Parts: sequence; C-alpha cells; structure tokens
Amino acid sequence: MRSETQTIQPLGGQGGAGPVLVGRGLTKTYGTQRALDGANIQINAGDAVAIVGPSGSGKSTLLHVLAGILPADSGEVFLGGRRIDQLGEAPRSELRRKEFGFVFQSGMLVAELTAQENAALPLLLGGASRSEAMATAREWLGKLGLAGAEERLPGQLSGGEAQRVAIARALGHRPSVIFADEPTGALDTRTGAETMQALLAAASATNAAVVVVTHDRDLAASMPRMVSMRDGKVQL
Ligand SMILES: Nc1ncnc2c1ncn2[C@@H]1O[C@H](COP(=O)(O)OP(=O)(O)OP(=O)(O)O)[C@@H](O)[C@H]1O
Ligand SMILES: [Mg+2]
Repeated sequence: MRSETQTIQPLGGQGGAGPVLVGRGLTKTYGTQRALDGANIQINAGDAVAIVGPSGSGKSTLLHVLAGILPADSGEVFLGGRRIDQLGEAPRSELRRKEFGFVFQSGMLVAELTAQENAALPLLLGGASRSEAMATAREWLGKLGLAGAEERLPGQLSGGEAQRVAIARALGHRPSVIFADEPTGALDTRTGAETMQALLAAASATNAAVVVVTHDRDLAASMPRMVSMRDGKVQL
C-alpha cells in the first residue's frame, strides 16, 4: 500500500536482536546492466556487517536500495518489520533522515561549515534547536577523539579526522542503521583500521546496526559478520 503521509515512528531505543533491516529478492538494472539480481540480506539490531565483493558486483547499489536512496526494480525492503520500498519520496526522505546515518568514502563534509556544524547538520535538518544540535555534535566529536577540533573547517582536518566528523554526523540523531560505503577507502591502512574501530564503537554505544562496504578484506574479516556479493547477489 502506498503511503505518502504516514509519519515515520522512530525505531531507536527498542534494542533487541531481531531483524532491523531486510532486503528480499532485490533487482536493479541500469539500462541493460544488471546491478542487483535477486539480492537477499538481513541485518539484525546491533549487527556490524561488512559487504565485500568484486568491483561492479552491486555493493553500492545494494546499499542505496536498502537506504531508500535508489528504488529497486523489484523485491522488498523492510525496516523494523515495516515495508519501506514502496513509500513515496517525502516519507522516504524522512525515513532516511531519522532512521539512517551515512558515511561515504571521503567524508562529504560541507567545506564552509566547521566540524561541529557539520556533525550537527542531520539534527538541525531533523528540527532540533541549534543549541541542542551543537551540544550533541560536540559530545560526539569528543567521544570520537576530536575535542578541540570543533571550530576547524574540513580543509583543516586530516583524512582520518574528517571521517570521524562524518561518523559523528552519522550518529548524532541516533539512527537504527548506519550505512558506510568505503569509509576507509581514502585512508592509509592504520588510519583506516582506527576509523573503522571508532565507527563500530560509536555504533555499538547507540545499538545502531552498521553496514559497511569495503574492498579491504582484512578490515572486513575483523568485523563480526562479513557477506560477499557476486553478480548482483549476496552469496550464501
Ligand atoms: N548510475 C549507473 N548507471 C549505469 N550503470 C551503473 C550505475 N551505477 C552502477 N552501475 C553498474 O551497475 C553494476 C553494479 O555497480 P555498483 O556500483 O553497485 O558496484 P560496486 O560493487 O559498488 O562496485 P565498486 O566496488 O567498484 O564500487 C556495475 O556494473 C556498474 O557499472
Ligand atoms: Mg561501490
């Protein structure tokens, strides 16, 4: 059933270990290029899952479909037992804002905003007051080892620091699921491993599930769960 107006109820704070996000039989074709070919995946509350697989196997597409950024051609996506893939654009974007957090390869921080303002953005977009959003952002930056860097602009941060700001930004609104596409792809091995540890620790502190696409097999193997994609399918 299509629902354009229904208000999204936050799932946060429910805890438990049941499925939080489920994708079933997902297909997606770009022109003639099949990116997803019946992909199935289940993410449980508090899960930390690495998605690995060859370039072009559909990892980013799967992430975008699960997060409601990209519509699938067929298949179903459930969040907390509720079907979300058929929602209209307005509730889908509300869902993304409230329930999901995103960390991309190179931060995607707003260059003109300070670290603290960047981290506060999703809260501000969600309707929090500036003082409340800035206080939460400061708290998360502190937890991520960035106390003192609040006023710096993205251009004044190292790659690893910028990714930790992106993590703070992804977590402040307490999402149920954090999606990360190659979050350590632009970092050296050691900084990458530290950044991933910071992400996992912060997610675990809020009981958020984490879904991370990575090319780094060692990093993936260090995560509690790893799934492989090939030819648009999640391997069993
Ligand atoms: N916007 C697009 N238009 C056309 N084809 C696309 C588009 N996005 C992805 N594809 C194709 O769909 C397939 C899956 O792409 P996807 O980006 O999901 O792979 P990936 O596993 O994330 O790869 P990588 O590891 O290189 O990031 C590839 O064949 C890709 O060329
Ligand atoms: Mg990709």
